[in-house]
Amino acid sequence: MKILLTGGAGYIGSHTCIELIESGYEVVIADDFSNSSMAVLKRIKEITGVEPTLYNIDVADIASLDELFAKEKIDAVIHFAGFKAVGESCEKPTMYYRNNIDTTLSLLECMEKYNVKRFVFSSSATVYGNADRVEYVEDMPTNAVNPYGRTKMFIEHILMDASCADKELSVVLLRYFNPIGAHESGLIGDNPNGIPNNLMPYITQVAVGKRERLSVFGNDYPTPDGTGVRDYIHVCDLAAGHVAALRYSEKNRGCEAFNLGTGVGYSVMDIVKTFERVNNVKIPYVVTPRRDGDLPEYYANPAKALNVLGWKTEKTLEDMCADSWRWQMKNPNGYTEE
Ligand code: WQD
Repeated sequence: MKILLTGGAGYIGSHTCIELIESGYEVVIADDFSNSSMAVLKRIKEITGVEPTLYNIDVADIASLDELFAKEKIDAVIHFAGFKAVGESCEKPTMYYRNNIDTTLSLLECMEKYNVKRFVFSSSATVYGNADRVEYVEDMPTNAVNPYGRTKMFIEHILMDASCADKELSVVLLRYFNPIGAHESGLIGDNPNGIPNNLMPYITQVAVGKRERLSVFGNDYPTPDGTGVRDYIHVCDLAAGHVAALRYSEKNRGCEAFNLGTGVGYSVMDIVKTFERVNNVKIPYVVTPRRDGDLPEYYANPAKALNVLGWKTEKTLEDMCADSWRWQMKNPNGYTEE
């Protein structure tokens, strides 16, 4: 069975690629390397013994995508490709809507033309936005509060409409919580461009000496220690969730959303302290004002994914901290040296 991964060289895409290869799937990657590195392909081969087929294309470019679909007999699509920085999306909303929505529309058009009926979408817990509860369940209304989150929310609606119109279509919306960690080999991991926006890559860059200290964005939230609480999920558990979703899409039609999270919330200080303890390194930090747009606390209710997909997380916060650090230590400058 041949699976197309758009954005397959990215952080979550590359980990999913490994999980798919190890589960016996054939993988075709479409990536324009705008936020990823070619070196990932060799690392995937080092880990699995298989180098996935690569198309260095912009997925929004329908002519290139059509060529791919004409050459490969694709059975299902997992769509990761997209811009993902919340702050940048507020500065350049048009670019975010154009890119994230165009790529999805091009895929849907090609899938229709080549009769491909299975679509797994890389969505985000961000679609829930300002909710009236901190434990998110899939049937809550979506209410994203920034352009990045709204691209995910609008794409979910586009995919729901597509599945209503084509009863043979199977769409699975995977709402990720906060992916961290790396493959235990330390060969692939999160490789942000420039100053990291997210907590874990910032911590690992402080640990490796690239940044002086972490800024903890606010310690006056109504949470146990005053710092923000999130549901951190190991990227390899997340990758396994995609394989479960793919299997589900083989036997089911329609459109279903699933939370992919652990169900447990940890604070910023929980992460810092666990990272220090597990890896025996100091993380100097300073408390700064809250970051605009951050919510105090949220985490997943992961019951639907367990009951319907038969998937749950296996890794601990200790694993996440150890694996993030191993990746950073072995690759202090990410993939850039290659
Ligand atoms: C986690 C916690 C911060 C950095 C974002 C997007 C979401 C998804 C994942 C997808 C918060 C605190 C962070 C730092 C800090 N994106 N923090 N100092 O904001 O939950 O989610 O990334 O591609 O859509 O919104 O993740 O890792 O940025 O923050 O104190 O330097 O760490 O305030 O409480 P977030 P994050």
